[in-house]
Amino acid sequence: MDLNSFIQDLARGAGAIIKDKHRRAKAWRSKSSPGDIVTEVDEACEEYILSRILRDCPEDCILSEETGSLGNPSGVRTWIIDPLDGTRNYMMDIPFFCCSIGTTLNGVPECGAVYDPIHDEMFFACRGAGATLNGEKISVSDVDTVEDAVISLAWVKDKVDRGRFVEYIDELSRETSYFRRFGSAALVMAYVACGRVHAYLQGGLCPWDVAAATVIIEEAGGVVTDLAGLPVDLDNPDIEIVTGNRFIHHALMEKIVR
Ligand code: IPD
Ligand code: CA
Ligand code: CA
Repeated sequence: MDLNSFIQDLARGAGAIIKDKHRRAKAWRSKSSPGDIVTEVDEACEEYILSRILRDCPEDCILSEETGSLGNPSGVRTWIIDPLDGTRNYMMDIPFFCCSIGTTLNGVPECGAVYDPIHDEMFFACRGAGATLNGEKISVSDVDTVEDAVISLAWVKDKVDRGRFVEYIDELSRETSYFRRFGSAALVMAYVACGRVHAYLQGGLCPWDVAAATVIIEEAGGVVTDLAGLPVDLDNPDIEIVTGNRFIHHALMEKIVR
């Protein structure tokens, strides 16, 4: 099986389901809290992706947002899936959401596909082979001052110390006015990979939010770490990340983490 085409085909297939229901009424329900929602489309996409992986890759392990762990628990490859990242945007008809599918080999990020079905943009990378957007090579920006940086900064209110993130904004807003909050972790990370956004900092993320995009950013020449400067631990259910090119990543670590 050609892993590269298979992952992208899965993400495109899920993207078609997402696009088909865009701007149409969708059944939805709350999950862990009233603000944490899942729609019938999240579930339909996940079912589509899981059934294909279970059929074609029975030896692999799977971690997927709505279902949790399944497949072969001792598989060396793990699929980490967010069938629809940016569900709130999707519900609100804000066209910024994606399907995110990553793999790890023995715990190390291997390949990732982040597909935006509205703009038909496929961000993709496999370790050692560079990162692409619709087949064209991409790289992170070369902006080297926070003053010029477009920075996405976000948190999940029930999972992080909000005060700390407000302090980050206070500190960074002395130097840049270009804050953004996009509402899809995987897609904003893909934007970091292609240089549209210079840096992204968020707390309260889950492995499926970041697994695919981490390898895409790294293959695009960027740096992805937690707030201690360590590689992101995809076994952690509560992930904080800082990412950007190496200059901005370094500057952010100096300014806010200290
Ligand atoms: C969410 C989005 C959002 C981030 C949340 C995620 P979902 O994922 O990525 O940008 O702030 O932490 O849970 O629920 O839309 O898949
Ligand atoms: Ca998500
Ligand atoms: Ca999701």
